[in-house]
Amino acid sequence: MESAPPIDLRLMRHAMGQFATGVTVITTVDDAGTPAGCTVSAFSSLSLDPPLVLVCIGNGRLMHGLLTSTPAFAVNVLSARQADLALRFARPPKDRFAGSANHPGRLGIPLLDGAIAHIQCTRYDVLPGGDHAIVIGEVQDIRINEGEPLLYAKGAFLDVNAEAWDHAVADAPHEWLLSAPW
Ligand SMILES: Cc1cc2nc3c(=O)[nH]c(=O)nc-3n(C[C@H](O)[C@H](O)[C@H](O)COP(=O)(O)O)c2cc1C
Repeated sequence: MESAPPIDLRLMRHAMGQFATGVTVITTVDDAGTPAGCTVSAFSSLSLDPPLVLVCIGNGRLMHGLLTSTPAFAVNVLSARQADLALRFARPPKDRFAGSANHPGRLGIPLLDGAIAHIQCTRYDVLPGGDHAIVIGEVQDIRINEGEPLLYAKGAFLDVNAEAWDHAVADAPHEWLLSAPW
């Protein structure tokens, strides 16, 4: 069989940008107890029983070494008001936590104030994923806070206002969608 031509990386990035996600900051602490965190959009729910989530973290990232070894991490789901934090936690690590209020969660991991959900996890498994690692977390604690999610697609952030969300939620077959098995 003739081998397929290699995939154009720009096209791959473009295609991925057509898929809208939310935005998270994954936080943890290093051995010395110093907080660390970085912006991650490659976050997904994985399993309900047991309750598992996954994040994909680039092999070259500082957070890669931490997330593949630290016993616990937290997923901070960013609100529509937190695009600045999404950028701050993607830039060079110096002072990422400066000016971003946070408080320690049950597992001793910093939770960012203003995030619309805090999902605290213990490390369950790490799988290879090409130039990323797939870090699977077992959910130990969940806190939901008020606010709308920050959306990300086409390399841009979108803040859909509360009124538009209220309409969408009112019109949606909400209970059915939330209880569906996917
Ligand atoms: C919106 C957005 C989404 C991102 N998603 C991911 C991701 O899913 N996985 C990843 O490894 N890096 C992702 N990044 C890039 C990291 O946040 C960035 O490389 C960061 O500097 C890594 O920090 P570290 O080297 O301290 O770990 C994303 C950046 C932005 C702005």
